[in-house]
Amino acid sequence: MFLISMYRSCYCGDINKESLDKEVILSGWVDTKRDHGGVVFIDLRDHTGIVQVVFGREKISKELIELAKKLKSEDVIKVEGIVKRRPEGTENPKLKTGEFEILGRKIQILNQSRELPFLPEDNTPAGEDIRMKFRYIDLRRPKMQDIFRKRSELSRFTREFFYKNGFVEVETPFLTLSTPEGARDYLVPSRIYPGKFYALPQSPQLFKQILMISGFDRYFQIVKCFRDEDLRADRQPEFTQIDIEMAFVDKEDVMNVVEEYIYEVFKKFKGVELNRPFERLNYDDAILYYGTDKPDLRIPYKIFDVTDIFRDTEFSVFNKTIKNGGIVRVLKVDGGDKLSRKEIEILTGFVSNFGAKGLAWMKYRGKFESSIVKFFSEVELMKLKERVKIVDGDILFFVADKEKIVLDSLSNLRAKVVEFLDFKLNGFYPVWIVNPPLLEYSEEEKRYVSVHHPFTMPEDEEAVFNKDNKSCKAKAYDLVINGEEIGGGSIRIHKRDLQERVFEILKIPKEEYEKRFSFLLEALSSGAPPHGGFAFGYDRLCMILFDANTIRDVIAFPKTQKAICLLTGAPMEVGERQIKELGIEISKEFDV
Ligand code: AMO
Ligand code: AMP
Repeated sequence: MFLISMYRSCYCGDINKESLDKEVILSGWVDTKRDHGGVVFIDLRDHTGIVQVVFGREKISKELIELAKKLKSEDVIKVEGIVKRRPEGTENPKLKTGEFEILGRKIQILNQSRELPFLPEDNTPAGEDIRMKFRYIDLRRPKMQDIFRKRSELSRFTREFFYKNGFVEVETPFLTLSTPEGARDYLVPSRIYPGKFYALPQSPQLFKQILMISGFDRYFQIVKCFRDEDLRADRQPEFTQIDIEMAFVDKEDVMNVVEEYIYEVFKKFKGVELNRPFERLNYDDAILYYGTDKPDLRIPYKIFDVTDIFRDTEFSVFNKTIKNGGIVRVLKVDGGDKLSRKEIEILTGFVSNFGAKGLAWMKYRGKFESSIVKFFSEVELMKLKERVKIVDGDILFFVADKEKIVLDSLSNLRAKVVEFLDFKLNGFYPVWIVNPPLLEYSEEEKRYVSVHHPFTMPEDEEAVFNKDNKSCKAKAYDLVINGEEIGGGSIRIHKRDLQERVFEILKIPKEEYEKRFSFLLEALSSGAPPHGGFAFGYDRLCMILFDANTIRDVIAFPKTQKAICLLTGAPMEVGERQIKELGIEISKEFDV
């Protein structure tokens, strides 16, 4: 190993009993300085830890002590000295090296630091924008060092896992054509062919399929993907996937590999043995009972459809909504009757963020209790009781509205309400979401679009050629852990006629798909084996494994929610000449 250099004979964190009375050379950053007049204490830090260096405990030159006094936090220095035990009673049990100190005999200032906007302490008061602008200081914090060292370990572990299982790592291009995954592309103008553009890949989807057709059998890649989409706490414009693809497989084969990988990762990085096989939930049931395709199953509360029960009710809020084509669903919060009126009011405000016009509720203590009970008939209440299997101490929350508003409101309410109930969200709960629909109708585009992507194999191939293809299910599977979509994949269409049929259902004109996807269609009719795969959201996995609060904390140089890199200032205007060379004109509309 090449760890030693002219700057160091060992690392700060390495100082231990064996080092006693030895001369050492250390280099690093001044973490803190304490000046006690004749004696100066420096906490010297490198990536392995902190060690105390003392100047003036033994007789040293006046110049040396003056130099030590001049040091400031984050100056970069090299020190030479001798390792001693700290005087009794002055040990620091919080430091790995806390029993020892270096009696400093030489200092060399390698580089002075300016006054910094914040210091690299774990409990920094600095806001996220400042941390991102001065990322090099932020990354010096032990917490951040720890995350990125673990992320590196996870990459190593991932590579070893997939090599061991017969996968080969192949790099796919970044300058390519659009690979539709449902987001906008980042485009790169071509200088040589003005007016033409490369697209940065939203995923290596088509290349990995081509690799299966090329006979590689099993492929993986830890790879950057680029999507120009609305950013949220768990999304970045460029993010990393662990992308895999396998030939001659069906759903179960891919899911087995994914499950084994996740099981091993949690065992190694969390010391947790997940229950196997992972639970499976039909997509339709996930939507019905949890209002979302990524439910956090650590929360036991379920949602029930009660539209049929209240179709003719006297309570006009429900009745009118149903008459207008809306639905009524109810979230049962077990043991939720301790919620106060004030808390229910807060929750009512919360669901209004998702468009709900109100939040009707009923508690149950031997009978239903609420100001709205009087509107309901005995029969309605009895049917409700049976449907939701209510017991004493429960509370029901109703939302009546258009389906989307009801699902958004109740699924988010389900996650929110735990904050008011001393509910500890412990552990990890993986669940497969299976049998999603192949297609969904997009009101915006006035056509059917793929739920996953257009290369996904339908559950029933024949049905796609028939008229009832709209209700067709997909051979696709998503893995959700604690309400976070960790990854997704599918079996792919491997025959040209079926792929063309799906393009037609998606109303992609023949000229268009032949222009954009002829390479795929030709490959599919050139000996394409059955194949399928999966992609893990690597950053999201890191977020869960390393207890990070946002995806930005596990990405070394992340972008803000507004897609800006605060460190470099990207994106930025470029010189006129460069723009001209690309044959591009910037519209006046965008002038700032
Ligand atoms: P999908 O689009 O589901 O599938 O992406 C796979 C996983 O990548 C993660 N992910 C993201 N992470 C951070 N920021 C983003 N903007 C972002 N978008 C997606 C999610 C997601 O589950 N080609 C298919 C995979 C396949 O079929 O094999 C694909 O890309 O965790
Ligand atoms: P109101 O008749 O408007 O006083 O509402 C009576 C109760 O029904 C209140 O608790 C409201 O929050 C609730 N409510 C109003 N509109 C809706 C709705 N669309 N869905 C569910 N509850 C509602």
